[in-house]
Amino acid sequence: MRILLLGFGNVGRAFCELVQNKKEVLRSSYGIDCRFTGIATRSRGCVSDPGGIRIQDLLEKDSSTGRLDSGASGISALSVDDMVSGMEYDLLVVCTSTTIRSPEIPTAYIRSALDRGIAVVTSNKGPLFLACRELVDLAKRRRTHFLFEAAVLGGTPFFSFARHCLTSSKILSCEGVMNTTSNYILDLMLSGSSFDDALLDATRRGFAEADPTFDIEGWDSAVKGSIIAQALMGAPPVSLESIDVQGITQISVGLLQEAARSGGALRLITRVEANCDAVSVSVRPEVLPAANPLSRVHGTTNGALFLTDTLGEIFVAGGGVGPRHTAYSMLRDLIEVAELIHAKK
Ligand SMILES: NC(=O)c1ccc[n+]([C@@H]2O[C@H](COP(=O)([O-])OP(=O)(O)OC[C@H]3O[C@@H](n4cnc5c(N)ncnc54)[C@H](OP(=O)(O)O)[C@@H]3O)[C@@H](O)[C@H]2O)c1
Repeated sequence: MRILLLGFGNVGRAFCELVQNKKEVLRSSYGIDCRFTGIATRSRGCVSDPGGIRIQDLLEKDSSTGRLDSGASGISALSVDDMVSGMEYDLLVVCTSTTIRSPEIPTAYIRSALDRGIAVVTSNKGPLFLACRELVDLAKRRRTHFLFEAAVLGGTPFFSFARHCLTSSKILSCEGVMNTTSNYILDLMLSGSSFDDALLDATRRGFAEADPTFDIEGWDSAVKGSIIAQALMGAPPVSLESIDVQGITQISVGLLQEAARSGGALRLITRVEANCDAVSVSVRPEVLPAANPLSRVHGTTNGALFLTDTLGEIFVAGGGVGPRHTAYSMLRDLIEVAELIHAKK
């Protein structure tokens, strides 16, 4: 499998490391022999080598600042556009920065690869928010695959869970704790921190998005809700402004304590509901009773409760946060793509 990787930041590097570490398992258990034939960044250059880039050289270089094309690891390549549209490869992996208000560039890269019949895996929420169904449909028409497990709930199985474990079920609703930064802040506040100190701690630990207002004002959760609505319930894309969003900035310690005293917890809940012909998405802090499993989703854990026509309620949760967990979701997608390609032959 020849991989073209876009983005060599936290997730891109973690993905390369994971693919290296799992090389033998990928080969012996799944018959996959992976080669990175191209890696592209926005400002640090691009490298390509049809024989396979020496990933270890790149990983050992200064991680996030040096130019990729300054050493011996592969030859200097074309522009990102030319790589995506002109190179020969089997899988495009997109882990470029999420820009929700202007996701056109990564969306165009994904569209270009799918249009050529090449499979795509992404952790970038922007193109999914803008055009999830369009891209899924394009993949189907071109008889290829588009998977995005890493975009919601980090390393915790979510879309793959729905695809493989809720087969033929109708998902009536999905509610979840989907933003780690907010969840972590709420727990720290309950144990005595101020909001500002808790946010600082979340930022230092690397959970928070580059702009933390995106997390704490609920926008990240809203984007995820919209992606779920499109991917699992057939809803059209919506603008951010049309989603009913309330973040955690107005939450007081008193409210958190009151919820805890009643045996439950206050969590930032993303709710996606299919009602008649429409799908609604909302984000708001809610006091959950102890009986709701989401009330036990604490700290850096995330979780989702599906309501289906077959099983009733079913719950998934996990501690999947950060680049390594995200990279694992992408590896899971890579294996699924390889199996689907193999099954077609
Ligand atoms: N970090 C996490 O735990 C996590 C969890 C779930 C999902 N995600 C998503 O995964 C993606 C990557 O996150 P990250 O933490 O790795 O971000 P990051 O460290 O900021 O890295 C982003 C990378 O994308 C490159 N890039 C940006 N625009 C590009 C373009 N147009 N063409 C080519 N390369 C481009 C950047 O290049 P430069 O180096 O030149 O700037 C950088 O190498 C984001 O979409 C994020 O929302 C991250």
